Amino acid sequence: MVKLNYNSALVTGGAGFIGSHICEELLNQNIKVTCLDNFVAGKMENINEFMGNPNFKLVKADVADLDSIKDAFKDIEVVFHNAASKCTVCRVDPKLDLIVNAYGTFNVYEASRLSGVKKVVHASTGSVYGEALYFPQDEKHPYNPVSFYGVSKLCGERYSNAFRDYYDINISIIRYFHVYGSRQESSDVGGVIPIFIKRAFENKPLTIFGDGTQLRSFTYVKDDVESNFTIANSERSDGQAYNSASGIKITIQQLAEKILKIMGKEDLEIIYKDWRAGDIKVFQVSTEKLASLGYECNTSFDIGLKKTIDWYVKYFKNK
Ligand SMILES: NC(=O)c1ccc[n+]([C@@H]2O[C@H](COP(=O)([O-])OP(=O)(O)OC[C@H]3O[C@@H](n4cnc5c(N)ncnc54)[C@H](O)[C@@H]3O)[C@@H](O)[C@H]2O)c1
Repeated sequence: MVKLNYNSALVTGGAGFIGSHICEELLNQNIKVTCLDNFVAGKMENINEFMGNPNFKLVKADVADLDSIKDAFKDIEVVFHNAASKCTVCRVDPKLDLIVNAYGTFNVYEASRLSGVKKVVHASTGSVYGEALYFPQDEKHPYNPVSFYGVSKLCGERYSNAFRDYYDINISIIRYFHVYGSRQESSDVGGVIPIFIKRAFENKPLTIFGDGTQLRSFTYVKDDVESNFTIANSERSDGQAYNSASGIKITIQQLAEKILKIMGKEDLEIIYKDWRAGDIKVFQVSTEKLASLGYECNTSFDIGLKKTIDWYVKYFKNK
């Protein structure tokens, strides 16, 4: 893992899936960590093991409320902004996406500026591109989000331009694509990998929305932590956006079969339901720009998936 060049960091959404892995690696590197989360989706179980660490501080606050988050940014050198209302939520409450992902991001930039934070790395998503006009999608691809989530995330991203222009604050955007690993939500609003693992663990059929031909580029969460740190360390990254993805190409059908095979449950049925609105059929992503900062994706899909399955099987057994 690349060594981060800062002494103190704040992670919004730090009790969530990706945020908790960022917190963990920061603590491994003896960096002072403030984890800011309102626990709408985050869980204490994700951060319990950090609680006794003198370098770890937890702030329960909502990024949509600037007054409640401002103080937490004092003496912070780098911010990893991962708090967000997820795409699974936007189907039931699109307005919340707007409030958290656009207005909340505005507040995170504002609090960072007021406290003189040196760098903000803002977690965005490949959904800002929408359906691809060409492959592989690089960072110059036009923006055409088709979901409420994608639109609200793009809005948050674009505020970085205004903040940089008006205040000269260093902000970089990292766009994740289908991150997986331990601690990801496994309920119906979670990620497809933990949902499939949970169904197989419970000996229930796996459900695919659509025909299973959707192509994904799953990335192991530790590799995304590494890309966050690489971007944070780089001066060249200021004002830039980077795709962070593994380059793996796997369909949802292949994923379902792989999980059933690893778990020894190949006799379980796969059932198919209607396509979900806003579902993007193909992701093929260029990561050349991130590689130009010296980043390499280290984890093969087979290794990452096996580690993830092992973690969830233990987790479900202990539930
Ligand atoms: N997981 C993926 O595959 C993926 C893909 C693309 C982009 N992203 C982006 O990565 C970031 C992290 O996603 P994740 O998968 O870890 O999701 P997550 O839901 O596990 O984590 C998000 C965290 O933000 C917190 N949060 C939500 N609203 C908040 C608010 N108003 N104030 C403070 N905290 C709040 C939640 O409680 C949660 O802990 C998000 O910005 C998301 O848009 C994730």
